[in-house]
Amino acid sequence: MCVIRPIVLSDVQLVYEIECRNFPTPWNKSIFEAIATWGGKIRFQNHRVLLMRVLESEHKLVGYIVWEENKIAKKGHIMNLAVSEEYRRRGWGEKLLRYALDMMRAGKMLFCVLEVRESNLSAQKLYEKIGMKKKERIEDYYEQEDAILYYLSL
Ligand SMILES: CC(C)(COP(=O)(O)OP(=O)(O)OC[C@H]1O[C@@H](n2cnc3c(N)ncnc32)[C@H](O)[C@@H]1OP(=O)(O)O)[C@@H](O)C(=O)NCCC(=O)NCCS
Repeated sequence: MCVIRPIVLSDVQLVYEIECRNFPTPWNKSIFEAIATWGGKIRFQNHRVLLMRVLESEHKLVGYIVWEENKIAKKGHIMNLAVSEEYRRRGWGEKLLRYALDMMRAGKMLFCVLEVRESNLSAQKLYEKIGMKKKERIEDYYEQEDAILYYLSL
């Protein structure tokens, strides 16, 4: 049993701690604060919107996902996804990802992309499990590491 809901300000500290443990170049805390302040959805440039949801299981925040929808390009872009270490391999990452993809479909996006570190094989396995395809390698996308760009038709 779980709940997926927009981030609120009281989630930010925990989200930021998960972020710092999981990414070598974590997002700034102020980004999460800003998204929470705007109810989990920031609109910019009229046609672009950034969305964030957290997943709670048994009243504990387990993970989160952030994505962008571009209404002109009809493109969804997964920007951030993490599940706290102690809750891994229980299907929560997949649930968050499928939720974001469903939201993109509802928003009439035609495709979804994301970048992942070449070394991040567990995330790549997740993306391939849900049907995403490797599209290209982006050299030095991260400091001293290439990214793999994944693509999914929605
Ligand atoms: C990637 C991440 C979000 C996956 O979250 P999760 O909740 O553990 O994933 P799930 O339990 O939903 O796994 C779904 C599928 O992904 C694949 N997978 C996930 N973790 C895996 C691992 N460590 N090894 C191999 N496959 C893995 C499997 O195919 C799994 O399906 P299965 O359990 O039926 O075999 C999590 O490992 C994480 O937060 N990592 C650090 C942050 C990160 O790398 N984010 C992605 C940046 S692009």
